[in-house]
Amino acid sequence: MEEFSAANRLNWDDRAQLHATDPTGSYRIAKVLAGGSSLYLLEAGEIGDISGKDIVHLQCHIGLDTISLKHLGAGSATGLDFSPAAIAAARGFAASAGADVRFVEASVYDAVEALGQVYDMVFVSWGAVNWLDDIFRWGRVVASLLRPGGRLYLADGHPMMFQCDRKGARLELQLGWRTPPRRPLVWDEPRTYTGDDRTLKHVRYYEWIHPLSDVVNALIQAGLAIDFLNEHDVVSWQHFPFAVESGDMFGLPDHCPKIPMAYSIGATKRK
Ligand SMILES: C[S@@+](CC[C@H](N)C(=O)[O-])C[C@H]1O[C@@H](n2cnc3c(N)ncnc32)[C@H](O)[C@@H]1O
Repeated sequence: MEEFSAANRLNWDDRAQLHATDPTGSYRIAKVLAGGSSLYLLEAGEIGDISGKDIVHLQCHIGLDTISLKHLGAGSATGLDFSPAAIAAARGFAASAGADVRFVEASVYDAVEALGQVYDMVFVSWGAVNWLDDIFRWGRVVASLLRPGGRLYLADGHPMMFQCDRKGARLELQLGWRTPPRRPLVWDEPRTYTGDDRTLKHVRYYEWIHPLSDVVNALIQAGLAIDFLNEHDVVSWQHFPFAVESGDMFGLPDHCPKIPMAYSIGATKRK
């Protein structure tokens, strides 16, 4: 497992450096540094009242959503990511934005020890759980980070979307619905997903598709009650080359049968 995690960390270090100097506008850096928010309308509409809440953002990447949560009224915002380059960039952005936000470098699996406190909300979004081999362990981490009555908000790519790839002008089912922990999907891609022309040094990365039922059951078994599970026909990145802009996200063009592209979960830690 350590081999997969180490390769992913190197790949994310490369991506963090490109994303922190993003020329494509994908990361809304200027908006966040000016005091605004990089959250999409979908999660901004679903996240509920965060005013005064202590929030931890797992897999925070370069910290723009973490800083945004503080701008949106969180009492405190803490970001955690295992990439040193991502955390360095996040701290730089927080300083530039004048935002009092904490960033911690650690694996999600070590988050409880690394953070040393509990929160009102765990926030996780867009390209997160596909990097984790053990979704049930993740569920236990989420539960341990929450106070009784505290909430999880998760928005991420849908497993159905991850199972499909483009075949000509259509989608084809290409991958299994549950990736075995020790046999991850293996990818070698020279560029990141933002459309940036610059190349990565570490091209190999590993991912896992988790059935929706595993994500939900991981949370229930860890002691959370599900408040909602929503499926969406849009996702925040251009997952397929022929995906079209739809609001502030991307959906499938009219000639394609629609599939769920994303899902979101609200859950509360049982008292
Ligand atoms: C697609 S980004 C998430 C984007 C994020 N929603 C944002 O606000 O920009 C995925 C992040 O997960 C992090 N990551 C992957 N595996 C991890 C792990 N085991 N522990 C902590 N962070 C991890 C990567 O370093 C990367 O920053």
